[in-house]
Order: sequence, then C-alpha cells, then structure tokens
Amino acid sequence: MTIRFVLNGEPVEMDARPDERFVDLLRDRLGLPGAKVGCGIGRCGSCTVIIDDVAMNGCLLPAYKLEGRRITTVEGLGSLPEGRAVILAFSEGNAFQCGYCAPGFTVAMTALLMREDVPDEADIREALGGHVCRCTGYHSILRAAADAAV
Ligand code: FES
Repeated sequence: MTIRFVLNGEPVEMDARPDERFVDLLRDRLGLPGAKVGCGIGRCGSCTVIIDDVAMNGCLLPAYKLEGRRITTVEGLGSLPEGRAVILAFSEGNAFQCGYCAPGFTVAMTALLMREDVPDEADIREALGGHVCRCTGYHSILRAAADAAV
C-alpha cells in the first residue's frame, strides 16, 4: 500500500508491505540507519523515533500505520531546538560509550523536552526508563539528560 508521511521535515510517499516494520523501512529503504535494532521486541529502546511528538519503538510500528504522521528520527534532531539542546548536553557530558543506545536515548529525551519545558528527575527517569545501555553508562546519561533539561 502507498503511505504518505513527513519525515524529518520532508514529505515522503512510498509503498509499504503489510508486514514491514517502520525501523526496517527507515534503515533499509530510506537510508536512515540511526534507529538501531537491538532486541526487536520493544524492550531496549534503540529503535526509538518520535511520532507526532511522542517517542515510540520503531520495531513495534507497522510502517503502514504511519500514514499522515509527522516523524523525527535521530538524523533530524538537529533541526529541533530541543534536539540541539540534547545533542549538546550529551556530547559535552560524554554520555556515550559504544554509542549503540545513543540514538534511542537522545530521541526519547528530545520527545520529553517537546512535551515538558522543564522536566524533573522523575520525568527524565520515566522517559528514559525503557532504554538499555549495554555499556551501563547510566549515570553520565542521566546527568546529561538533566543538563539538557535546564
Ligand atoms: Fe525496538 Fe529494542 S529494537 S525496542
């Protein structure tokens, strides 16, 4: 079926198979490899994208359901003020180690800032709670998230 959506500010129209996951469409057909496939079952957060201001797991989203949606991936964060604040805070805070989880954490934190101007620690922990860092660098990630939120 043909679907139309706005991706990182650009209109997209393309065919999607009924069984196609959105994260695969991004990575394999749109050349956007930022969203990663870690667990593939909604448990690690590495595939997170922003759909109409809400962070969602791209591995659980059928591509055909994105008709008419506005989508931001990690590749588009730099075009958003909230995304730029997150990128700066995570970079200056050395919040990445291997980097595999970085797209998920930064996208989720950006979505939180799009909803809450000044989130508190509980908001941040809830927003990032579904994300797994294989290097276990959670302290630096939470510090950077707090820095992005001021
Ligand atoms: Fe989607 Fe882990 S790959 S949540």
